[in-house]
Amino acid sequence: MSELILKASALTVRTADRVLLYDASFRAESGRVFGIIGPSGGGKSTLLRCINRLNDLVPGLRVSGDIRLRGECIRTNDVNALRARIGMLFQQPVIFPTSIGENVLFGAKRLRSLTRSEASAVTESALREAALWDEIKDRLRQPATVLSVGQQQRLCLARALAVQPEVLLMDEPTSALDPRSTAAIEELILRLKTSHTILIVTHNIAQARRITDTLACVSIRDGVGQIVEQGEREQLLTSPQTPELCEYLHASDIHTGFTDE
Ligand SMILES: Nc1ncnc2c1ncn2[C@@H]1O[C@H](COP(=O)(O)OP(=O)(O)OP(=O)(O)O)[C@@H](O)[C@H]1O
Ligand SMILES: [Mg+2]
Repeated sequence: MSELILKASALTVRTADRVLLYDASFRAESGRVFGIIGPSGGGKSTLLRCINRLNDLVPGLRVSGDIRLRGECIRTNDVNALRARIGMLFQQPVIFPTSIGENVLFGAKRLRSLTRSEASAVTESALREAALWDEIKDRLRQPATVLSVGQQQRLCLARALAVQPEVLLMDEPTSALDPRSTAAIEELILRLKTSHTILIVTHNIAQARRITDTLACVSIRDGVGQIVEQGEREQLLTSPQTPELCEYLHASDIHTGFTDE
């Protein structure tokens, strides 16, 4: 049974002279992957960054509307406590210039002090969950920068998982990766969705078809970014109702030459 985890209502993001995202409302449930698609500049990343309050750090951006995590307004929470519950992966892996092991524990150590054996246990379990343990278990003291980009992205996932978040936000997490690393991340997403609520931005329609359950299309309408259409994945992909989604899917088909199935 799916449970309502995140509920956003009338989410609007403005600068002094522009509306970047207007009146976005959506729900994300446990056990389901919520995908966000749409043309570049539509406001997908802006939407995602509202959920863990990353936009709060950007001078000049004003966020209004309401986001509830398990019924609780995210603004009433301490922001660090909120970010412990909501992990994030970016397009390019964000690696700290320390060892692989230190990278895994970066967030977890800030949250609570760990004994040496707890630290080892957290490291191993997070790396196993991110399907990286077998590849790097003997190299935990090496600099994380020596890893391939695909391994670095799984390391970032392990770092997020070490904090035991309920929600995972992913902003085009595979767009810098080769097909094999992309497949590894997609496999992980399908595995992790049973225990986490996942929201993912992707430009890859074939990927959206493989891993998402619900989809929202974010696009510019009347000069502002907004959710123009949302619903069950297959419904949106097979019978899009808005000109924006039709155009986006058509452009994606041309781009992939219908081959990426
Ligand atoms: N801090 C900011 N100040 C002003 N404008 C911004 C800011 N952040 C984003 N924007 C603008 O908001 C719009 C939406 O940006 P956003 O990054 O959310 O788009 P996107 O849908 O994620 O695009 P892409 O697919 O290229 O990643 C863009 O026009 C962008 O230039
Ligand atoms: Mg983006």
